[in-house]
Amino acid sequence: MIITIDGPAAAGKGTLAGKLAEKYALAYFDTGMVYRAVGLEMILGGYSLDDTAKAESLAQGLTFPRMMALSEYPDFRSLAGSKAASVVAAIPGVRKALLKMQQDFSIRPVFADGSPAKGAIYDGRDTGTVVCPQADIKFFVTASPEIRAERRYKEYLQKGQKANYQEVLTQTLLRDKNDFARESSQPAKDAVIFDTSELSAEEVFDQACEIVENRKKTLEK
Ligand code: C5P
Repeated sequence: MIITIDGPAAAGKGTLAGKLAEKYALAYFDTGMVYRAVGLEMILGGYSLDDTAKAESLAQGLTFPRMMALSEYPDFRSLAGSKAASVVAAIPGVRKALLKMQQDFSIRPVFADGSPAKGAIYDGRDTGTVVCPQADIKFFVTASPEIRAERRYKEYLQKGQKANYQEVLTQTLLRDKNDFARESSQPAKDAVIFDTSELSAEEVFDQACEIVENRKKTLEK
């Protein structure tokens, strides 16, 4: 079974994906990691984020193990890392270069320890529209920018990173503008939409499980 979960930053995609992956024993691909990896390579190499050709060549050379190694760096999920990811993700050549790596995972999904899984959950922006349009279930998780910025702000503080709420809100709005300018980031026509400004994580999980159970029954027929 392939499940996609798309939506803006800090809407609760990762929380839902993690719980569903555990309950249904599915492998998990956080696709933002591929863009974060290329963004971080640009920062580490001292390249300007405007250097489209460099970003494309780094994307073409990215491997899964390199992405995992880069994910250990503190800047992988910092404000600077998030901004770099969002900028490189807007380059069509970068998206094209990173597509196969994301799609291959649905053919041979694996858990974090490398063991094979019977299905996968994708978390991203375009996983239901571009990466896996054939997915069995598509969710789109969203929330207001203010609520999402507050969640991110608290996450930074919990990790001991310096943060300023207004700055996080400004970044959230900027990333939304960048990310949702793409048609592919709009909800897939067959996606179920959850607004986590109004629903708790538990409510979203319960409703999602009901949909998964129903879909499983149809697939087993
Ligand atoms: O989800 P996350 O915040 O880690 O994603 C980082 C950035 O990568 C996003 O702001 C977005 O620009 C980009 N992204 C994307 N398509 C995806 C996943 C992430 O463009 N499927």
